Amino acid sequence: MVTVDQVMSSLKKVVDPELHKDIVSMGMIKDLSINDNKVSFTLELTTPACPFNSEIEQDVRNAISSIGVSDLDLKVTARVMEGRSISLDELLPGVKNIIAVASGKGGVGKTTVAVNLAIALSKTGAKVGLLDADIYGPSVPLMFGLKDSPQVVDNKIQPPVSEGVKIISMGFFYEQSQQAGIYRGPIISGIIKQFLTDVNWGELDYLIIDLPPGTGDAPLTVAQTIPITGILVVTTPQEVAMNVAVKAIGMFNKLNVPIIGVVENMSYLQCPDCNSQIHIFGKGGGQKISQQYNVPFLGEIPLHTQIMEGSDIGKPITISQPESLQTSAIMKIAKNVAGRVSVIAAELKQSEESENSDSENDKTIQSGSNPEAEVKVQTTESKNVI
Ligand SMILES: Nc1ncnc2c1ncn2[C@@H]1O[C@H](COP(=O)(O)OP(=O)(O)OP(=O)(O)O)[C@@H](O)[C@H]1O
Ligand SMILES: [Mg+2]
Repeated sequence: MVTVDQVMSSLKKVVDPELHKDIVSMGMIKDLSINDNKVSFTLELTTPACPFNSEIEQDVRNAISSIGVSDLDLKVTARVMEGRSISLDELLPGVKNIIAVASGKGGVGKTTVAVNLAIALSKTGAKVGLLDADIYGPSVPLMFGLKDSPQVVDNKIQPPVSEGVKIISMGFFYEQSQQAGIYRGPIISGIIKQFLTDVNWGELDYLIIDLPPGTGDAPLTVAQTIPITGILVVTTPQEVAMNVAVKAIGMFNKLNVPIIGVVENMSYLQCPDCNSQIHIFGKGGGQKISQQYNVPFLGEIPLHTQIMEGSDIGKPITISQPESLQTSAIMKIAKNVAGRVSVIAAELKQSEESENSDSENDKTIQSGSNPEAEVKVQTTESKNVI
C-alpha cells in the first residue's frame, strides 16, 4: 500500500510553472487521505484564474499514477493569496489584492480593460470589486449600464453589483445631468479615500481600480493611502502612447509600487475579409516597454467595433460576445494578471517570512508599521515626482 510519504514526495516533483516552486512547499495539498490504495486530496491553487490550472492538474495526476496509484479522488479548488501587506493596512482588511489600472495617456482603453478584466476574473469564480477613481470623467457606470445611486446602510455605501462585480463610481453621485465634475486635488483625494473606506467592499479577492490618465492626484492618493498589489499599465502600440506609459511606470517605481505588467490595447484590426491582422497604430509598443523596463507583457487586445459598442450599450464585450476572439484575448490577459498577482503574493509571503525569522529586522518592521509613518515616507518621496 502506498504511504503518505510516497504521495508527498511524488507531488513535490510537481512545480507551479509560474511560482517556480513545488506544490507541496506552496501548501497547495490539503486533506490528504489514503484508504486501501485509494488516494484523495484537494489541490488548492493560488487563484481560480490560474493560467496553468489544467497543466498542474495533469502533472498531479501523472505524479500519482507514477507511484502505482490508479484510484485518485482529486478535488481542485482555489484560494487567492494576499498580494499586499494587509497587516499594515487597517482600511481594507478583507481585500486580498488591489490592482490599479493606469496609463500615461488618456483614451488608450484603461476603463475598457478594467471593466472587462473585472468581469473576466469574476467569471472564473473570484470575488471582485471595481473602484472608478476617475472623479472628473467617470465612465464605469455607463459601461455597465448602471444608473441608480447606491444605498447607504449603517453609514456604509453599498456598492451596486453587476455581472458579479461590486462597483463604485463618482458617476453614481452626479445628478442626472451631463455635467462634468470640477474638483481640486484635495477633494479628488478625499473622494477616493472615501471610496476606499466608506464602501462596504466586504471580502474581495481582487479590487480593480480604474485610474484616470497620467500621474496626477488620483494615482498618488491610491498609492499613498493603501498598500496595493501592483499596477497594470495599459498602452496602445504607437510611440506617443508608449512614451507616456513609461512615465507612469517611472512614477509607480518611485513610489515602490510593483508593476504587474503591460497590456497593449487596440493592437491590431482583424481584417474581416482576408483574416490578416492590420497594425493600424504600429506594432509591438507594449512588447518594447516590457523589454526596456523589464516588466511582463500580459497580452494584446484587438481593435474591434464590438468592444466599443459593448461599452456604449452598457454590456461589455465579455458579456455581450462571450465566445468572441476579443473576449478570449481578454480572458487570457485576466489569467496572466491573476498569475502575476500570485507571483507577487508569493514573493511578499516569502519576504515577510524571512523578515519575521530575523529578530533584528522584526524591530524595524514594527517601527515601520505605523500607517502614518508609511504615508509620510511616501509623501516625501512623491514630492520628487511632482
Ligand atoms: N480594443 C478596442 N476596440 C475598440 N474600441 C475600443 C477598444 N478599447 C477601447 N475602445 C474605445 O475607446 C474609447 C476609450 O476607451 P476607454 O474609455 O476605455 O479609455 P480610457 O483610457 O479609460 O480613457 P480615459 O483616459 O478618458 O479614462 C471608448 O469609446 C472605448 O469603447
Ligand atoms: Mg477611463
